Amino acid sequence: MAHPQKKLNADLEADAGQGPSHEVRSAISEGLLREQALIEPKFLYDTLGSSLFTAITQLPEYYPTRCEAEIYATHAQAMADHIGTVESLIDLGAGDCVKAEKLFPTLRPRRYIPVDISAQYLDQAVARLRRTWPDIAITALGLDFSQGLRLPSSVPPAGRLFFYPGSSIGNLDPDAALAMLVRIRNQSPNGGLLVGVDRIKSRDILEPAYDDALHLTAAFNLNMLRHVNQLLGSDFDVNDWQHRAHFNTEESRIEMHVVARRDLVLTWPGATRVFTAGETIHTENSYKYSVEGFTDLLERAGFRGIRHWSDQRDWFSVFSART
Ligand code: AVI
Repeated sequence: MAHPQKKLNADLEADAGQGPSHEVRSAISEGLLREQALIEPKFLYDTLGSSLFTAITQLPEYYPTRCEAEIYATHAQAMADHIGTVESLIDLGAGDCVKAEKLFPTLRPRRYIPVDISAQYLDQAVARLRRTWPDIAITALGLDFSQGLRLPSSVPPAGRLFFYPGSSIGNLDPDAALAMLVRIRNQSPNGGLLVGVDRIKSRDILEPAYDDALHLTAAFNLNMLRHVNQLLGSDFDVNDWQHRAHFNTEESRIEMHVVARRDLVLTWPGATRVFTAGETIHTENSYKYSVEGFTDLLERAGFRGIRHWSDQRDWFSVFSART
């Protein structure tokens, strides 16, 4: 299962004995001091958080992973015909590279460039891929592509296909999603994009996907507080907080929050914050799109030749677009 973020730079620095950077600590601190407190969703993914996310993708309630797999199983050849020759397949948030690998026989890329924040994790996946696919040149890039996307000159500019699966684009707000699409387009003259997008649907389907009966999503959300304690030196007690996920119809997004169960004072080096019972910290948005809405976003980013394929229930779509 590919993870959106396998391991944070902050964790890697901590592994190397340096501790999280000043930037990481001040970004978290600044978010906690906002009127509507927030923690960026990338902090969901420490080692335990990544394992919990993998478990979530296997839950009956969490449909996106299965819907996307169904779309690729049914329509991969039609997608390959639409895309044409792929010189370089660039996998954004590659994780274990398994999703992209399934497309190798149909897309037949000459080069594969998995990009993930954790270089270490990629190295393991790439060692295995090199044995299985000796004819594909593989260059792994350990970088946080949300901060910028510049490929090395060893990747020829023509024939690049960016692969951005899992509806990870939904974790960006629409302005940031547009900026990401523009960045991709600028890196891909005469190339293309294959992107997975979760669709707007009934609250009865959406909300259980983010608030499941086994409480794995609750554990995933609350685990972030322990991760923040490690990074920031804060004193979150997980028992004082409750998971909440709801569909915000106006904004067309699932919002995840942690809700204070009682009045409490949170402390970390250099600051404190009072939370009253019921006050929340906003931890993640997961935007849902209509076909028209996402097509419009792609067009505004300068893409053309846009096509999409959906699962049988029309719950999820994969868009193919050219630059
Ligand atoms: C990674 N991302 C696309 C997931 C989503 O559905 O927004 C993260 C997630 N959050 C809660 N459950 C899964």
